Parts: sequence; structure tokens; C-alpha cells
Amino acid sequence: MAVERTLTILKPDCVRKELIGEVTRRIQEAGFKIVALKMTRLTKDTAGGFYAVHKERPFYNELCEFMSSGPCVPMILEKENAIEDFRTFIGATDPDEAEEGTIRADFADSVGENIIHGSDSVENGKKESNFFFAEQEVVANKA
Ligand code: TYD
Repeated sequence: MAVERTLTILKPDCVRKELIGEVTRRIQEAGFKIVALKMTRLTKDTAGGFYAVHKERPFYNELCEFMSSGPCVPMILEKENAIEDFRTFIGATDPDEAEEGTIRADFADSVGENIIHGSDSVENGKKESNFFFAEQEVVANKA
């Protein structure tokens, strides 16, 4: 299987609930290597750019409000089959439908405030990584 990279965001609800440590621990325990990490705060406009694909959806405005409501923690993760494995690891978008033991099942309150993001393809992972990180902020993590 190919080594891939995925972009995750610990969303503002994750930061507010003081779950940065716990979620990051689980990410590493599941075998994902962190190759970039920062804390930042999106504006409503930048959140809108990140989620531009959802512009016409009824939840778009609320999503942009939420994503800009506090700091978030984007990371680039590396692992074999990272895209699919990370989506499985975080669980379904709606926490009520997420498998037991996944991040969203364990920590998310609702479909709108669901703790964590994971890229849905290698190509989108690259675009989303470039959205948050400059080339020099991405490091090899072979430890
Ligand atoms: P989506 O890309 O469908 O889900 P995922 O994050 O699992 O890839 O949607 C992006 C975000 O939009 C989702 O994490 C939360 C929000 N959202 C809603 O608020 N309501 C909804 O009905 C959907 C589908 C998504």
C-alpha cells in the first residue's frame, strides 16, 4: 500500500473541550505520523474558502461561523493508506452514525460540531495541506 498524507483539523469544539492532547495521542497511537502541526484561527472568510465545495449547502453559513468560532489545530499526517484509514478512524460525519470507538462517536456533539476533519482524497489532502502550511513547515517524521 502506498504511503499517503492526509490533512486533519482539530476543530474549535475539540480545542474548547481541551481534547487536543487526547485526540492527538489517539492519532499517534493509530500509527499516523505528524509531519506538520500548528494552532491557528480561521476567519469566517477563510473558513468559507476551505469549505467552498459546500457553498450552496444549507449548512454552509453555520459551518463557517463554527469553524471561525475559536482556534483550531491543523496537522498533516502520514501513513500507508492514510486517507481511507483516517476517515475510518474519525468515524461518520454524524456522530450518531459513527462506529463505536471512533473520535466522532466518542467526542462529537452533533453533525455540525464534530470535532475533527479528515481529507476525502489524496488530491484534496494536498490542496488542504497547502491551504494551511507552507512547504518549509512540513517536516519528515521518521522517528
Ligand atoms: P462533509 O464533507 O460532508 O463531511 P466530512 O467532514 O465527514 O468530510 O461536510 C463537511 C462538514 O460540514 C462536516 O464535517 C460538518 C458540516 N456539515 C453539517 O454541518 N451538516 C451536514 O448535514 C453535513 C453533511 C455537513
